[in-house]
Amino acid sequence: AANERESLYLVSEFAKDYFQRILNKTDQGKSIGLSYFKERGFTDETIKKFDLGYSLDEWEAFTSEALKKGYQLEFLEKTGLTIVKEEKRFDRFKGRVMFPIKSMSGRVLGFGGRILINDKKAAKYLNSPESDIYYKSKVLYGIYNAKQSIAKEDNCYLVEGYTDVIQFHQTGIKNVVSSSGTALTSEQIRLINRLTKNITVLFDGDAAGMRASLRGIDLILEQGMNVKVCSFPEGEDPDSFAKQNTLEELQDYLNENAKDFIQFKASVLYEDSKGDPIKKADTVRDIVNSISKIPDRIKKEIYIQECARIMDISEEVLFSTLAQINKKES
Ligand code: CTP
Ligand code: MN
Ligand code: MN
Ligand code: MN
Ligand code: MN
Repeated sequence: AANERESLYLVSEFAKDYFQRILNKTDQGKSIGLSYFKERGFTDETIKKFDLGYSLDEWEAFTSEALKKGYQLEFLEKTGLTIVKEEKRFDRFKGRVMFPIKSMSGRVLGFGGRILINDKKAAKYLNSPESDIYYKSKVLYGIYNAKQSIAKEDNCYLVEGYTDVIQFHQTGIKNVVSSSGTALTSEQIRLINRLTKNITVLFDGDAAGMRASLRGIDLILEQGMNVKVCSFPEGEDPDSFAKQNTLEELQDYLNENAKDFIQFKASVLYEDSKGDPIKKADTVRDIVNSISKIPDRIKKEIYIQECARIMDISEEVLFSTLAQINKKES
C-alpha cells in the first residue's frame, strides 16, 4: 500500500508540473489561464509560488500525455485525474485554472480547478475526489507555504477559499490557510494546533460565511485553542478586500475588527434582535455552551466573567447554566 501511495504522489506531482507547463508555455494556457490570473491581480511570483496551472479544454489531453510518459492508468484513475467510463477515458479537469493542494511537507495531494467564466450550470470549483493520499478532512490548503509564518506569528488566519490564501500572501500576510470547500474539521484544526494555539477565523461577508464561522468556533475551543473572528464588509471576501488595500491597511483592519468569540457571538446573535429577551436568553445559552467546550477551568471562568459583562447578566446564573450543560453531557 505504501508503494501504491507513492505512485499516486508521483502521478500528482507530474500533473502539477504538466498543468504549470500548459499555463505558461501554450497559447491556450497563456491567452486564457494566465490572463485570468493576471486579471485577478496575481503576479508571476505568486503564480509560481503556488504552482498554479491550467488544464486544456480538451477531452483527454492530460491523460494521453501522462500515459505517454509511462504513468499507469490505474493510478491516474485512483487520483481522480482521469475518469474511466465504459472503456473511454476523460480528463476530470478541462478548461480550468488549477490550484494544487499540498501536504504539510509539500507533496501534491490533489487539485482544485476553477472555471473561468461564472455560469450557473457548472460548479465554480471542481476538486479532486478523495484517494489514498487525499483525505479532505485532514488537509488545509496553503499549510505548506504558511507553516513557518504561523509558528513565527503565533497565529493562524483561517479563510474559506484558495484565492483568499493566495491574495493574502501576495499582500504580505503568510500565516493563512483554508479549509477549501469542506466544513472545518477537528483534524484540520489539529494540524494548526501543532504550530500555534491561536486561530483567527476570517469569513466571507455573506450569510454562508457567517454560518461557517459560527460552526467552527466550538471545534477550535474544544482543542484548548483561542479563537477570534473577523468579518468583512457585505459582499467582500479576504481576497477582494486584500486586493483593494495595502498591507498596512489590511493589518489595521484585521487588528481592529478581530473579536473574541464571545463578542462575535453576542454581536451576530443578539445585536440584530433589538433587545428581544427571548433572543437574549438564546444567545446567552449559545455562548455558555461554547464556553463549556473549553478544557481549561481558569479560562472558562474568565470567559464566564466576560460573558456576564457583555450580556449584562449575573455570573451566578451563567455558572449554574454551565453546570447544567456539563451534567447533560456527562
Ligand atoms: N468551493 C468548492 N466548490 C464550489 C464552490 C466553492 O469547492 N462549487 C470551495 C473552494 O475551495 C472555494 C471556497 O469553497 O475557494 C470558497 O467558496 P467561494 O467563496 O464561493 O469562492 P472563492 O474562494 O471566493 O472563489 P472566487 O473568488 O474564485 O470566486
Ligand atoms: Mn515546481
Ligand atoms: Mn463565499
Ligand atoms: Mn469567497
Ligand atoms: Mn473570492
